[in-house]
Parts: sequence; structure tokens; C-alpha cells
Amino acid sequence: MLTDVCNLHCPYCFANEFVNKSDTEITVSAFQKAVDFILGDGSHHSVGLIGGEPTTHSRFAELLTLLIKDRRAEAIVLYTNGVLLDRYMDLITHKKVHILINCNAPEDIGDANFKRMCRNLDHLYQKKLFEDNITLGINMYKPDFSYSYLMELLLKYKQDHVRVSITVPNMENTRNHNAHDYFQTMKGRVLAFFEELLSNGIVPNFDCNKIPHCQLTPKELEPFQKYMEQGPLRDAIMRSNIHDSIVKCTPVVDIRQDLTAVRCFGLSEVSKQNISDFKNITELINFYIRTIDAYAYNTVYSAQCVACKHRKTLMCSGGCLAFKINEILSVQQYAEQRISDFKGRKNE
Ligand SMILES: C[S@@+](CC[C@H](N)C(=O)[O-])C[C@H]1O[C@@H](n2cnc3c(N)ncnc32)[C@H](O)[C@@H]1O
Ligand code: SF4
Ligand code: SF4
Repeated sequence: MLTDVCNLHCPYCFANEFVNKSDTEITVSAFQKAVDFILGDGSHHSVGLIGGEPTTHSRFAELLTLLIKDRRAEAIVLYTNGVLLDRYMDLITHKKVHILINCNAPEDIGDANFKRMCRNLDHLYQKKLFEDNITLGINMYKPDFSYSYLMELLLKYKQDHVRVSITVPNMENTRNHNAHDYFQTMKGRVLAFFEELLSNGIVPNFDCNKIPHCQLTPKELEPFQKYMEQGPLRDAIMRSNIHDSIVKCTPVVDIRQDLTAVRCFGLSEVSKQNISDFKNITELINFYIRTIDAYAYNTVYSAQCVACKHRKTLMCSGGCLAFKINEILSVQQYAEQRISDFKGRKNE
């Protein structure tokens, strides 16, 4: 996480514990330490640059160059809102750099920002980067979210895929409630959007917070059957995560400017760890799996999940873990207390 600064203020932003709360930037030496931590044990070959808006970092070019030159980094993933990319056009067109552009609607970011993002997309398209190195994405954050602007961009740049998230809760009052209610309010528009995408040969792929299987009826899924009869589209759908009922979430690990890590932004308040307490990235990921993920399938936010085979077979966590984080923490506390009691008895 290069910086807390962002040029935008998206209402849904799940990094809102940090974003625009300070102007803290990562130093070059802390950046190098974070990169060594991620790539050091050979289990990872790519590094993501995130923020805030990473391209606002005053030494962004230097940090990116450092990573491009690092032979351990086979890929660099830049997470960006795309508005300021013109500042670094030459550098970001390096073949190692993959760009995930979070495309916001003009009414959310204002016409000037939207037009600048579009100019940058035009430029990247002319450089033929859309073939392999660019993915456009959308955060579906309210029941009437707009998507026509994105459809236009996807068609203009001849895209056959798009990254989608049903936004995860970013405020205390939207967490720890029955997420089924939330998915119900969102699904009408999500399905209409997916129908329009697929009818244009564009396949969505979920990033965060995939809609659980139980939230969709056979009647609602019926209109999508026809796309499974079309050879190449069917293959693309099978490669994406929209066709199966698996709803899983694994630690992404965001490392902050002070070298504390969080499991993901959605759980940032409850998962801070100092990376210097861990030998390497694998040890840290395993720590998160042991202390958070292990309880994800033993906790529920809805009575409907109790007997569900998708939960019992570890195939559905119910969406983002933030929906039941208090439950997860209380089971974690209980388990840790039992382990500590057991160790105490053994030492007596
Ligand atoms: C926090 S942003 C930082 C990077 C950059 N400013 C951007 O917008 O891409 C990183 C990623 O988080 C995603 N994101 C932000 N808020 C989210 C939410 N509430 N739920 C799911 N994804 C979210 C964005 O789509 C983006 O890909
Ligand atoms: S999602 Fe990205 S662009 Fe939007 S406020 Fe958060 S950090 Fe900024
Ligand atoms: S575990 Fe819960 S959210 Fe997931 S499919 Fe089953 S009932 Fe639905």
C-alpha cells in the first residue's frame, strides 16, 4: 500500500480506515523491505501496488522502476482508478505491468476525472495493451448502480472479460448483519448487467463478495443457459468463477507503509500484524488462515447457512467474511482460550 492519499473519494471504498486520513507515503527502503518479504521465499512471483491511489505517490516512478528491475518479480499488478495514468505512460507500458482499472461512473467521480480516465484508456488501447495487460473493473455498490458507461468502454476496447465486485461492507453498521438481505437487494441489477455483458460476449469474473448460490433461483438462472450452448463463450464462462457455486475468500495480504500487514482491507481493523514478526509471506498467510479463515465455515450470519451442505463442505463462506467478523472473532477467542487452558494443564 504505497500511500493513504487518493485523488478520489469513492463512497464504497473499503480502504476507508486509511484512505485520505493521512498523507503517509511508503519510503523507498520500506518498499524494498515489503518487496523482499513478498518475493523472498520464492512462493510468490508477483507484487500488487495498491493505495489510496498508488499513482499519487511522489516517487511512484522510482518504486515501479525498482520492481521492474527486480528479477524475482515476474508480474506487477497496478490497482488504479486510471485517472492519473498519463503521468506515467511510458513506464506502465512495460510488459511486466498488469493494470486493473477500477472504472467509476462519471456521476461518481465527475466529468473531468471520467474524461481523463477515458483519454488514458484510449492511449493504452492504441499501444495495444488491452490484449494482455489491462483489465477493466466495476464495484457494484448500490441497488441501482450504473453500468452503461462501462458497457460502452468494454465494447469500444473489444473486451471479452470484466472484473466485478459486489462491494464488501466498509462501515460498522453494514457489517454483522444477514448478508442475504444485501445480496437480495443487489441481485436484480447484477443479473441484468450480467445478461447484457454475456449477450455481448463479455464474461464477468468476481473479485470480492461473489453472490452465494442459495440467493439465485433456477428461474433467475434460466436466461443464462443459452450462453452455455455457445462454444467459445461457454469455455470462457467455464474459466471464470461465475458458473460454479464456490464462494471462497483467501488472504490477499496488504502491507501498509509502516510494514504492518492486514489480511485484506475488509478485515483491516482486526487483522493487523507486523511483518517483522514473521519469517516470510507464507508464514503470515498461514497465520491468517489459522486464526481467521479456519473459523469462516464454522460461523454463520443466517440460520439458513447452519444446515447448508455448501458451508459444511467448505465451499461457501457466505460472501465477504466481514459480514460475520464478530462471530469469527468470538470463536477464535474461545479456541485460543481452550488451547491455552490445555497447555496450562500439561505444564502443571
Ligand atoms: C482500495 S482500491 C486502491 C487502488 C485504486 N485507488 C483503485 O481504486 O483501484 C483497491 C481495489 O479495491 C477495490 N475496492 C474498493 N472498495 C471495495 C469494496 N468496498 N468492496 C470490494 N472491492 C473494493 C477496488 O475496486 C480496487 O480494485
Ligand atoms: S476505491 Fe480506490 S479510487 Fe476509490 S477512494 Fe478507494 S482508493 Fe480511492
Ligand atoms: S452457506 Fe449460507 S450463503 Fe452459502 S450457499 Fe449455503 S445458505 Fe447460502
